[in-house]
Amino acid sequence: MKKTIRLVALAATALLGAATLTGCGDDNDNGGGDAGGGFPADALIGVSLPQQTSENWVLAERLFENGLRDAGFSYVVQFANDGVTEQQNQIDAMIERGARVFAIGAIDGAQLGPQLERAHSEGILIIAYDRNLTATTNVDLYVAFDNFQVGVYQGTALLQGLEELKGSAPWNIELIAGSADDANALPFFNGAMSVLQPAIDAGDLVVVSGQTEFGQVSTDGWLAANAQNRMDTIIAGFYDDGTPLDGILSPNDTLGRAALTAAASAGLPNPVVTGQDAEVESVRLVFEGVQFQTIYKDTRALVTETIRQINLAQGGNAFATNDVVPNGEIDVPTFFLPPISVTQTNACAAFEGDPILEGVWSDFC
Ligand code: GAL
Repeated sequence: MKKTIRLVALAATALLGAATLTGCGDDNDNGGGDAGGGFPADALIGVSLPQQTSENWVLAERLFENGLRDAGFSYVVQFANDGVTEQQNQIDAMIERGARVFAIGAIDGAQLGPQLERAHSEGILIIAYDRNLTATTNVDLYVAFDNFQVGVYQGTALLQGLEELKGSAPWNIELIAGSADDANALPFFNGAMSVLQPAIDAGDLVVVSGQTEFGQVSTDGWLAANAQNRMDTIIAGFYDDGTPLDGILSPNDTLGRAALTAAASAGLPNPVVTGQDAEVESVRLVFEGVQFQTIYKDTRALVTETIRQINLAQGGNAFATNDVVPNGEIDVPTFFLPPISVTQTNACAAFEGDPILEGVWSDFC
């Protein structure tokens, strides 16, 4: 009963808010990619980012601030380094401040339900940035690099590296996945396993630890220490008798370097290791032939695309989409950018002109 009254009150507020701010109705309650009726060109845009677990997030902060300022918007860009509760509180505060659009990179995409519901009922457009928002109907657009494709590239690169560097099959591998609360971690893993599972079934790949389920291989908080501890334990338990460890599937560069460190500190030959994010340190390792692969997801392109979508909405246009991603409640209208798989072979071409990577690029190209 109480809930009904609250919802009615919120709906009334939403109608008032929409009438005041846009001059026309703005019913974005179905998450159907409706960008609403436009809003003022200097409106407040709220960008809520997760923890700084990889360089792409750190870069995104500055790129959003500069890009939104250049586009004429007001903005607030915040990390939630203390976790989910902080992110919830920050989003609540952005609603209070009158934001018209949210771009949210969620720590846990399933834990923002009440905030998103409230935001939507006040006419705020909700863009899931890089990580999808799950278990909610209150999301209008998802902008990201194709996560499943990222995993496919990682699985493909792992097999390629084993073929090139580790003799003939069978090869021994271990698997690492990202943080289970991040909606990206499972598509990364599923994409990789779509390539690796047939080779496991055929006996070409052997996961010596037997740990092949997402729940067994995921890495809390995307923390390098967690992945390294798990690899240390696996190496001590399964590879200290001289069993070769030929490759490690890693979902990103931070965890890939942790895997390389675990192998090196156990005195093992360098395994074939995958990655993602084209972090400066890992790009150097790719050029040197230490880390076999990374995935280039140019953060400049992702932020630019997100701001382009915000501009569309500001002008009263629908969001541009090229895909849909189910989030457990709805098919979220999605705009995917293509990730690029990078090994030593194409690194010079792939990273040419990226100012962040210029220092390392010029050492090798
Ligand atoms: C993911 C993101 C990856 C990686 C990871 C850890 O959601 O898509 O690029 O950065 O978080 O921060």
